[in-house]
Amino acid sequence: MAQTQSPRCRRVGILGYGQLGRFLALQLQSRGPPLGFTLAFVWSRGGVEGLPPPLRLGDLRLLPQTGVDLVVEVAHPEVIREHGEKILAHADLLVGSPTVLADPEVERRLREAAKGGGHTLYVPRGALWGCEDIRRMDEAGTLASLKVTMTKSPQSFRLEGHLRELLEAAMAAGGPVVLYDGPLRPLCPLAPNNVNTMAVAAVAAPRLGFDGVRARLVADPGVPDCHVVEVEVTAVGDEGRALSVTTVRRNPASPGAVTGTATRDTFWDSLRACHGHGGCVQLC
Ligand SMILES: NC(=O)c1ccc[n+]([C@@H]2O[C@H](COP(=O)([O-])OP(=O)(O)OC[C@H]3O[C@@H](n4cnc5c(N)ncnc54)[C@H](O)[C@@H]3O)[C@@H](O)[C@H]2O)c1
Repeated sequence: MAQTQSPRCRRVGILGYGQLGRFLALQLQSRGPPLGFTLAFVWSRGGVEGLPPPLRLGDLRLLPQTGVDLVVEVAHPEVIREHGEKILAHADLLVGSPTVLADPEVERRLREAAKGGGHTLYVPRGALWGCEDIRRMDEAGTLASLKVTMTKSPQSFRLEGHLRELLEAAMAAGGPVVLYDGPLRPLCPLAPNNVNTMAVAAVAAPRLGFDGVRARLVADPGVPDCHVVEVEVTAVGDEGRALSVTTVRRNPASPGAVTGTATRDTFWDSLRACHGHGGCVQLC
């Protein structure tokens, strides 16, 4: 498991070896050390072919022996639900699947584990444009409402429950269909891989949180090669007058992919900001 490295390098473990995991593992190997990061291991249910054996972790129970400083989850929300607390007892944790935080019990346990262990629970901003501004407005108590609309091609969705049936009907209909419009919390378990950007919004605006952020999910065959994220913010401005901001981000994506290509770069930027912020929750 041990790898030759500068003593100042943070050892990074990656959970998941799909689009994001492979990209981050490559970046860490090729560009990490001068930036103070080195790849410690990769663990994934689907195997980690192509990596040299010292970089493969077969069993997550061996994590404490790896001397890892930062664990990056880019696998599935269930991985955080099952292992998040134990990881935070040993290392900082970047949660790439923040939809899991819509479960209040998971959020509570992870926040407590971070505080108790002195390790940071990082939430990467992903495709959420204006994340820092939203956080500041929430902190100042001026944020009044936050609505996030995500529009993707029907093939880009991985849905659960009744949303699956709605999606099938939408595909048969052929045009754009609103799959969901309402509070974010109940949507997260129904679309765990598709609404991470919305979950980041709830973390950035804890006064609104998963119950106060409004979520709108649209299937549209007219956008086969990108994911569109529209963020609508209203805040109380000077003399009580409303301030409003709307941003629209068109994130290029391969047809049918759940992850946009620009998201890989944002995740790498987020990882590089994880220098250890102590026992708290930190957007990065
Ligand atoms: N925060 C964001 O803005 C954002 C953006 C894109 C993707 N994501 C999330 O990041 C995660 C990874 O995305 P991706 O595009 O790389 O996905 P992917 O499907 O390409 O890869 C997922 C990898 O995790 C592994 N895996 C899946 N379930 C697992 C489990 N239960 N236990 C162990 N390994 C498991 C798979 O074998 C695969 O190696 C997903 O949960 C996705 O929803 C978040």
